[in-house]
Amino acid sequence: MKKMKVAVVGYGGMGGWHVDRISQNDVAEVAGIYDIDPARCELAESRGIHVYASLEEVLADPSVELITVATPNDVHEEIAIAAMNAGKNVISEKPVTISLESLERMIAASERNGVKFSVHQNRRWDADFLAMKQLCDSGELGDVINIESRVHGSRGIPGDWRGVKKYGGGMLYDWGIHLIDQILMIFGFNPKRVSCICDYITNSECDDGFRLDIYFENGIRATVEVGTYNFINMPRWYLRAKGGSASIPAWKTPVDVVKCDKWQELNVTPVQTAAGLTKTMAPRDDYTTDTYKIELPKSDVHDYYRNFIRAIRGEEEQLITHDQMRMDLKVILAAFQSAETGTIVDIQ
Ligand SMILES: NC(=O)c1ccc[n+]([C@@H]2O[C@H](COP(=O)([O-])OP(=O)(O)OC[C@H]3O[C@@H](n4cnc5c(N)ncnc54)[C@H](O)[C@@H]3O)[C@@H](O)[C@H]2O)c1
Repeated sequence: MKKMKVAVVGYGGMGGWHVDRISQNDVAEVAGIYDIDPARCELAESRGIHVYASLEEVLADPSVELITVATPNDVHEEIAIAAMNAGKNVISEKPVTISLESLERMIAASERNGVKFSVHQNRRWDADFLAMKQLCDSGELGDVINIESRVHGSRGIPGDWRGVKKYGGGMLYDWGIHLIDQILMIFGFNPKRVSCICDYITNSECDDGFRLDIYFENGIRATVEVGTYNFINMPRWYLRAKGGSASIPAWKTPVDVVKCDKWQELNVTPVQTAAGLTKTMAPRDDYTTDTYKIELPKSDVHDYYRNFIRAIRGEEEQLITHDQMRMDLKVILAAFQSAETGTIVDIQ
């Protein structure tokens, strides 16, 4: 199969990642990059990458069928729409954009021009997420009660555009969009309401962390937490289900599972502390539980480009749909509203 030529607009940290991944892909190849910063263009040239002189030059290149937009969040829309109006298929980096009206204009441009439009939700290929999804889908631990998904860092919000509101800064947009998308992939793109509080520890303008509870119709509650001022991390994933608990302690560690085999215990040894004693909170006797590990599954993030390029060629359905893009963004916007008003916000 002939490889599809892809141009990358925005050659910063993530633009570089795209160029590397496209170069390794079996269905895509790099046509070149464009960046408004001459230093980034020089760097690309020094690496042997073709550099376009302007966005117009990218759009005028008939060999380019797909454009990946890897600029700060506030300019995804204008570049994506210009590209689609020029007949190019488009991948926007996440978050796809920063308002629902803007997203609707992007989707309309895709439909009007008969081109495909996707967002790079690459963390659907993270093995920790896939392991948790498989565990929930399998019913191995029975009905889910609640799940917690966290990422913790200790360096504050990056000191670039991510700390500036008008550029679409803040951790809800940066990491929240990945974690929300993963939760909706597990429990469905039909959440009912959200409640959110934001941190402003290292930045007064944009959230540098947050805790978001997402409620589903079936009673499941998902907690999504991002912290950038955590010097001790909590587990990456924590799951409570009717039949037991599971946890993924850190990036790339296997799933720890404790299945409750016998609800009743004969003799519980109480825990005695300096000020009292408790049976309720005492550890269970081993014979009542089955404790084991599940290795993380293998995944290949190249499947993101493979799928989208096959979708452009009409060979597959696009995995990340426009409706999913809408719901991911609706949850983020509802989370901001909840944090600002101190209320639980329904998802319309
Ligand atoms: N999917 C992921 O895992 C992931 C990870 C990191 C960043 N991102 C996303 O990628 C995008 C870029 O983030 P980054 O970390 O690479 O930022 P960055 O600051 O490192 O790079 C952005 C680049 O875009 C260029 N740029 C800005 N405006 C432009 C314009 N109008 N035309 C052309 N180039 C322009 C800048 O000069 C810069 O080189 C953001 O949307 C971010 O959320 C995604």
